[in-house]
Amino acid sequence: MTENQKKLIKKSWDLIGRDPVDFGILFYNHLFQIAPETKKLFVNDINEQASKLITMLGYIVAKLDTLEEVTIDLKRLAQRHTLYGVKAEMYDYVGKALLWTLAQELDNNWTKEMELSWLELYTQLTQTIMEAIKEQ
Ligand code: HEM
Repeated sequence: MTENQKKLIKKSWDLIGRDPVDFGILFYNHLFQIAPETKKLFVNDINEQASKLITMLGYIVAKLDTLEEVTIDLKRLAQRHTLYGVKAEMYDYVGKALLWTLAQELDNNWTKEMELSWLELYTQLTQTIMEAIKEQ
C-alpha cells in the first residue's frame, strides 16, 4: 500500500467517524441484500454488532503503518468467525458491502483512488484471514 493510499483511507475514515452506527446499519442492510444467507448468522443485537465492526475497522485504520501488528488479531478474528458459521466465500460479500457503504456515506467525497485504496487494504486483510482459515 502506498503512502497516498494510506492517507486516502485515513481521510475517508475520518469523514465516516461522525456517525459510525449509521454506517454499520447501512452496511448490514446491504450485506443482507446481496448475501441473504449471512443474515441468520447474526444472532445478537445488530446495533452492538455495528459498533464492534466499526471499532475493529478503526483499529485497523489506526495501524495502517504497522499492519503486521494486526496479524495476530486478524487470525484470532478469523478463528472466531469460523465458529460463528462464517464461510470463506462470505468475505467477498463483506468486502463488496464495505466499499458500497463507504461510497454511499462519502457521497461526493468518494473517489476512485479511495476505492482502490480500500480494495487494497481489504485484500491484504483477507489474505491474512484466508491463511488463518487454512491453518485451522
Ligand atoms: C475483515 C472482515 C471482518 C471484520 C473486521 C469483522 C469484524 C467483526 C467483529 C469485530 C465482530 C465482533 C465479535 C468478535 O470480535 O469476534 C464480528 C462478529 C461477527 N461477524 Fe464479522 N467481521 C468481518 C467479516 C465477517 C464476515 C465475512 C462475516 C460473514 C457474514 C461476518 C459475520 C460475523 C458474525 C456472524 C458475527 C457474530 C455476530 C453476533 O454475535 O450476532 N464477519 N465481526
